[in-house]
Amino acid sequence: MSKKLYIKTWGCQMNVYDSKKMADVLAPLGYAPVDEPDTADLMILNTCHIREKATEKVFSDLGRLRDIKKEKAGQGQKALIAVAGCVAQAEGDVILQRANYVDMIVGPQAYHKLPEMILKANGGERAINTDFPPESKFDHLPGESAPQGPSAFLSVQEGCDKFCTFCVVPYTRGAEYSRPPEQVLAEARRLADSGAKEIMLLGQNVNAYHGGNLDLAGLIAAIADINGVERIRYMTSHPRDMNDNLIAAHRDIPQLMPFMHLPVQSGSDRILELMNRKHTAAEYLEIIAKQRAARPDIAFSSDFIVGFPGETDADHQATMELARQVNFASCYSFKYSSRPGTPGAVMGGIVPEDVKDARLQELQALLFAQQKAYNEATVGKVVPVLFDRKGEKPGQLLGKTPHMQSVYVDAPERLFGQTIDIEITRAYQNGITGTIVTTPETLIPNEPPTPTEREAA
Ligand code: SAH
Ligand code: SF4
Ligand code: F3S
Repeated sequence: MSKKLYIKTWGCQMNVYDSKKMADVLAPLGYAPVDEPDTADLMILNTCHIREKATEKVFSDLGRLRDIKKEKAGQGQKALIAVAGCVAQAEGDVILQRANYVDMIVGPQAYHKLPEMILKANGGERAINTDFPPESKFDHLPGESAPQGPSAFLSVQEGCDKFCTFCVVPYTRGAEYSRPPEQVLAEARRLADSGAKEIMLLGQNVNAYHGGNLDLAGLIAAIADINGVERIRYMTSHPRDMNDNLIAAHRDIPQLMPFMHLPVQSGSDRILELMNRKHTAAEYLEIIAKQRAARPDIAFSSDFIVGFPGETDADHQATMELARQVNFASCYSFKYSSRPGTPGAVMGGIVPEDVKDARLQELQALLFAQQKAYNEATVGKVVPVLFDRKGEKPGQLLGKTPHMQSVYVDAPERLFGQTIDIEITRAYQNGITGTIVTTPETLIPNEPPTPTEREAA
């Protein structure tokens, strides 16, 4: 008999990938995914521990699942609740204590153990698995139970040994691990066979990848040889792990998209040191310059944290200056959130909340203006857009440009999954709109916007 599986996912793309893998693990047991928890036989919250707010949301959602479970029990039906992901890893014991209705706690390295955990939970016993097993979960995960669509995620590296002083990831995901290239390539082939045109390689430090004798650039080159793979991307990189091979790959491998997410966190050397990032602002700018020399049209994005302990106005202004110098295409920026167990949590010089707010506002005003200007510079150009999502209204498709801009187009559904030339007509901060180009000769090569074009826009 078919059972219903509800999974809610927070956090990074890695979690999105993991949720798909949990569905794959559970498919042979007869679990089919549903969008709402109300009718589900198994409800999984795949959680994120990166900032305090992310963690709080889990507990408020758990309350709702508890009510559903109770109601079902009243009707003589059984529903199981599982907490997965990074909160499960970090606070599994606390959750079991605080929430007696939670049946399973499963950490990110133990998803392949779900079937036996369900067996246990069905027998009335609570199950917890937050081990970092010596064997890799990747060796035990089944093939895909459903196609991912035109743009697919593929985890190639997991965990982190960098121990930035603000970050929980090394504790929740464990030591750095690279999947063997054969395994990655087999998965990439399956994805391409099931209709994926774009593959996004994932890792907490994806450019630290070292599987077999391949670095990330080598892996990308091998994936580029797979039939049907039109676009390759990767996320997230660390400046310390940038190498010349990867920079050259952006010049030499046409399928590798001209976009790089390279988190910098701060533009102040003093704060970078306190954060244990192990590079300076100048070194970061040097990578950007090198990459732009190799592939002039490459677009950059980044992550920033404002209000790290000890951050002064001068430090903050250094961050502003770095952002001005790079001129990013899009960025994420966050207020520092103190995480128990990390070195940052016990550092002096706590920045008051209102100062953090003001700094975030100032930084975001700059970053959002850069993003809008970047998008505006594409107006009037023709760019190849891979339609990878369906719009909310019928007759609309969503896609991405090579430079990772979201594009909204009125387009027939038959174009879903295809790469189509689009003339960009309007730009917004978060995306652009355009119309389908019917005459191929109007195609303009995908050149970077010049500074003048950007200013004029
Ligand atoms: N591995 C990636 C990032 C992983 S976490 C890297 O090395 O950059 C994603 C982003 O969340 C980080 O880049 C950082 O900007 C943000 N972040 C992590 N911990 C945080 C904290 N304690 N407070 C605020 N933001 C945080
Ligand atoms: Fe966290 Fe730093 Fe590792 Fe990124 S590199 S996951 S920010 S510890
Ligand atoms: Fe969050 Fe864990 Fe990803 S803490 S950002 S889900 S690695």
